[in-house]
Amino acid sequence: MKHLLGLEGLSAAQLTRLLDAAEGFRGVGVGDVPKRDDLKGKVVVNLFYEASTRTRVSFGLAARRLGADVLDFSPGGSSTSKGETFIDTAKNIEAMGVDMVVVRHSSPGAPHVLAKHLLPHIRVVNAGDGAHEHPTQALLDILTIRKRLGRVAGLTVGLVGDIAHSRVARSNILGLKALGAHVIVCGPTTLVPQEVKSLGVEIANSLDAILPRCDVLNLLRIQFERQRSGLFPSIREYRLLFGMDGDRMTRAKEGVLLLAPGPINRGVEITPDVADGPSSAILDQVTNGLAVRMAVLSELAKAA
Ligand code: CP
Repeated sequence: MKHLLGLEGLSAAQLTRLLDAAEGFRGVGVGDVPKRDDLKGKVVVNLFYEASTRTRVSFGLAARRLGADVLDFSPGGSSTSKGETFIDTAKNIEAMGVDMVVVRHSSPGAPHVLAKHLLPHIRVVNAGDGAHEHPTQALLDILTIRKRLGRVAGLTVGLVGDIAHSRVARSNILGLKALGAHVIVCGPTTLVPQEVKSLGVEIANSLDAILPRCDVLNLLRIQFERQRSGLFPSIREYRLLFGMDGDRMTRAKEGVLLLAPGPINRGVEITPDVADGPSSAILDQVTNGLAVRMAVLSELAKAA
């Protein structure tokens, strides 16, 4: 694997290899566990054209714990404001001698463009491209499921919410299906395009109907910044029909695991008591994300 542009096309064996590797990176650089030198002498640039808390910090910390030098780029305060193009910016950063580019961009395919235009030795990691893919988020979601429930194959996973605008949904579907889970996508008809069926998922428009069947519910954020208006009548109605709250918890499958990629809209997709309750693995996901990102960076550094 030379780049990680998405989970599309990755086999169960490749996904399992990354997840197994991530297990070995948990806790690296924490307490008595020493940092590693997998990326010693390498330069990793975080090229983030879109806001991020978890992914950006996680990739930066992961790279440092593996011994890399890390550059952080944001368009604010850069020559992007003077009209410099995405490619020109990337080529100028390339000229400073970077080895890996972690890119987030609102345009689907931006990481693919970099992989095509940058020097062949440079590795590109997709940290989220528009509504297309967010592969490390899906890997950390799947790692969290595997750690909490002991397996992925045979589980029923509900992805709830804004499927149409969600790169997290797409990458989760690809990874979970490859690993043998049954995936139900659930949300208002305006946020669940019928074409998603071609990925082999079941479509549902009632959360209450699927609650008793789901081993895992991944509560996706309503992406107000990507939506046209009018896709559902009101936030109040969305919360009533699709919000995970204490009442729905009593009707969910016993032992249900709750995930949310973050940032969460508290009181919309999930109520605060449920988000902070014992069935929620939201902060475990963040911890697992660090391990996943170390594994990905380490694997790419080894690739010929
Ligand atoms: N889940 C996720 O990608 O969060 P950030 O946007 O904060 O990176």
